[in-house]
Amino acid sequence: MNKPVDHAVLQAAAFHEEDDCNTSANPSFDAVLQARLGRRSMLRGAIGTAASAMFGSLSVAACGGGDDDAPAAAASTTVSTLGFTAVAKATADLLSVPAGYTATVIYALGDPLRDATPAYANDGTDTDFENRAGDHHDGMEYFGLNTAGTGRDASSNTRALLVMNHEATSHASSEKASAFVHANGGTNTLPRPTAEVDKEVALHGLSVVEVTKGSSGFATVRNSSYNRRVTPLTDNVQIAGPARGDALLVTAHSPTGTITRGTLNNCGTGYTPWGSFLTGEENWAGYFTRSATDNAARGDKSVTSLNRYGRAQGAASRHGWETGGTTSAYLRWNISKTGTSTDGSDDYRNELNGFGYIVELDPYSTSAAIKKRTALGRFAHESAAFGKPVVGKPLAVYMGDDSRGEYIYKFVSNANWASADAEPADRIATGDKYLDSGKLYVAKFNDDGSGTWIELNITNTAIAGYTATYAFANQADVLVNARLAADAVGATKMDRPEWCSVHPTTGEVYYALTNNSNRALAGTQAVNGPNPRTYSDTRGTTTQTGNVNGHILRMKEGTGDGAATSFTWDVYLFGAQSDADAALINLSSLTSDQDFSSPDGLWFSQSTGICWIQTDDGAYTDVTNCMMLAGIPGTVGDGTTKTLSYSSTQSVTARVGATPAAGKLKRFLVGPKDCEITGCCETPDGKALFVNIQHPGETITSANVADPSTYLSHWPGNAGYGAGGATARPRSATIVITKNDGGRIGS
Ligand code: FEO
Ligand code: CA
Ligand code: CA
Ligand code: CA
Repeated sequence: MNKPVDHAVLQAAAFHEEDDCNTSANPSFDAVLQARLGRRSMLRGAIGTAASAMFGSLSVAACGGGDDDAPAAAASTTVSTLGFTAVAKATADLLSVPAGYTATVIYALGDPLRDATPAYANDGTDTDFENRAGDHHDGMEYFGLNTAGTGRDASSNTRALLVMNHEATSHASSEKASAFVHANGGTNTLPRPTAEVDKEVALHGLSVVEVTKGSSGFATVRNSSYNRRVTPLTDNVQIAGPARGDALLVTAHSPTGTITRGTLNNCGTGYTPWGSFLTGEENWAGYFTRSATDNAARGDKSVTSLNRYGRAQGAASRHGWETGGTTSAYLRWNISKTGTSTDGSDDYRNELNGFGYIVELDPYSTSAAIKKRTALGRFAHESAAFGKPVVGKPLAVYMGDDSRGEYIYKFVSNANWASADAEPADRIATGDKYLDSGKLYVAKFNDDGSGTWIELNITNTAIAGYTATYAFANQADVLVNARLAADAVGATKMDRPEWCSVHPTTGEVYYALTNNSNRALAGTQAVNGPNPRTYSDTRGTTTQTGNVNGHILRMKEGTGDGAATSFTWDVYLFGAQSDADAALINLSSLTSDQDFSSPDGLWFSQSTGICWIQTDDGAYTDVTNCMMLAGIPGTVGDGTTKTLSYSSTQSVTARVGATPAAGKLKRFLVGPKDCEITGCCETPDGKALFVNIQHPGETITSANVADPSTYLSHWPGNAGYGAGGATARPRSATIVITKNDGGRIGS
C-alpha cells in the first residue's frame, strides 16, 4: 500500500544550510600541522521493544531495560553513576526513552497560544502563526514563575515560562516553499504568494509559553498573559552595544542604525545570571538575495564582508520572501544596493548587518526592549554559555560559530559581577551593564594541549593592518565583521562549533564540534590537534569524508578564570560508530550503548551535573535516528594521547579524554525518523526535563505532500498527539520527560 519513495532522492533534497565561506589562508594550519607531523611509517590510515502505552497525550516506547549556563546554585548532589538502562539504537518512527521514564508532548508546531486561535488542523490550511507555536523548535530555557503567576521565582518546580527558538521550516533545498504548512505543498516559482510568505515568516522566531504542573504533569497554559511570539517582523528590536548607530547598520527602516526587525534562524540559547533569555542567530544569511551585479554597484569593502558571511553576488534567497509584496517587510530580503544614497538609508543594502547576533529578551516582560548584543560579535551564533559567575570578577560568555572551519569565541564583560544583580528590577538594563561593554576573544589552539584567547580589538596590529583584505573602520566594524577580524589574528579553524556549556562544578567549557566535511589531510582545513580526524564512512550507498561523526572538545581556563587569556584543552568524546576503527575513528572506545554521531545540542544539568548530548546527524542515520545521551565527564587531561598515523609522513596527536565507563555515558533517548534532538532545560529539582524534537520527517518535496505514504515521519500524530493520526504531517514539538518514580532525570 505504500507508494515507493526514493528516500535517497528525498534525503538529497533536505535543506541543511551550512555556510562554507572561510577561505582565509590563516593560520597556516599548515604551519601548525608541520609542527606535529610525525614520521611514523604506518598508515592506517529497531526499536526497542516498546511496550508502548498511552500516557496522557503521547505514547512512548520504553526500551528494555544544568542551568545551562546558568549560575544558579552549583549542583549539590551530582549524579556519579547513570541509573537507567541504555536505549538501543533504532530507526522506528517513534520516540524512545528508558524503562521507568515517560515522555509527553506538550507544545507542537501550530499549537495555539490563546483560546481565540483555532486548534491546529495540520493540513496546511492553518494561519495566525503569530499566535501559535512556530516551526523547528530548537534551543530552550526554563524561567520559573511564582505561584501566583505574577513574576519570577527561579526556584519554582511547578510553574514557569518556556522560552524557545523556532529555527527554520521543513523544505527541500531545491524548493522555495515550506511544504508541510501549505495545503498543496506551496508555490516554488517566483513571485511567492503573499499569504505563503507571511505564514513562513511567522513560523520563525521565538515562543514564550507558560507551563504549569498539574495532576497529570506539565501542560501549557493557553491564555497566559506571558505567552507570545517574536518573529522576524517584530519591530523595534534594538541594536545595542558598540555597533549601535554605526554606519554599517543604516537601512531604510532605521536611518539612524539603531533598530531592526525581528530575529531569525535562532538556534542555541543562553540563560543569563540575571534571569533573561539569550538566543543565537545562526544561518540567517541564506534568507536574503543579492543581485548578480551588486559587487559593481557597491564598489566598496562591503563586498568582502558579504562574501565572508555567505552572500556572494547572485545568491538566491532560501524562500523568495522578497517577492511576497512591495512593502519594506518584503523588500528587506533583497540586500542589493538599489538606492542612490551614500549611506544606505534608502534601501536594504545593510540589512544583513542587523542579523547574526546574540539577542537578549526578558521573558517576564512583554514591554521590555529586545536587544541585539553586538559586543558579542556577529557570526553564525549557537549557544551563549556563561562561565561560573564570581562576585567581583568579570563574566565570561562562551560562544561558537557553526560553519565549516569557523571559530570559537569568548566575551568577557568590563563590569564585575555583583550578586545584587541576580534578581534585578530591570533585567534588560542589567544586560546593558554586562553585555554592552567588554572584550571579544577568539580561540587559537596549540597542538600541545594549550591555547590562547586573542582579543578582537581595532588596536590589535594584525586587525588594524589587515587592510589588504579588509580595512576595519572602528571597533563596531570589528564586531560586525568578527569573522574577518578572527581571520586576521590567525584563529584556529574548527569542525563546526555548535553548542557549548559550562560544567557546573569544574567550570570547564564543553563545545560540540558537530562534523566537518572539509577536514582533510591538506589545505586550509588540514587536520590539527583539536580537530585531528579525517576519514571515510559509508551511509547506505553514500560515502562521506572528513570529520564525519564530530567530537566534543573541552577547555580549562588558565589564570584568571573567565578573564583568562590562556587555556588547556582535550577532547571529551569522539563521535563514532562502535564498530569503527579504534585506531583512527572510535578513539573514545564507544560501545553500542554509547555510540553517536554529530553532537550538536550540549547542556549541563545544574541539578545532576549530567552532560546532555543531543545529535543532529546525517551520517549514522542508516543505523539509528538522532538521539540524546547522558554523560558524566571527568576533567581536562584525564585521558591519554593517541597518535593518528595517516601516512609515513603525516600523523597527528589526538588528546583523548578518559574512555567513558558504561555507567558514565549512555544513550537516553532516540527520536522519531528524520529528526534532530535539540533544546534541553529542566525544573530546578531536576525531576522534569524539557526537550525539543526538531523537524521529524523534514525530508519532503512539495510534490510529495499530497501522499502521506511518502512522509518519512508522522510523529507525533502517530503517537496520539493532535490531528492526523497515523497519516499526520510531522510536527516539531516540545516534550517533557519525567521519571515514573518521581526521581531526578538520569539518576
Ligand atoms: Fe542550528 Fe548549528 O545548529
Ligand atoms: Ca556508517
Ligand atoms: Ca542545531
Ligand atoms: Ca547541527
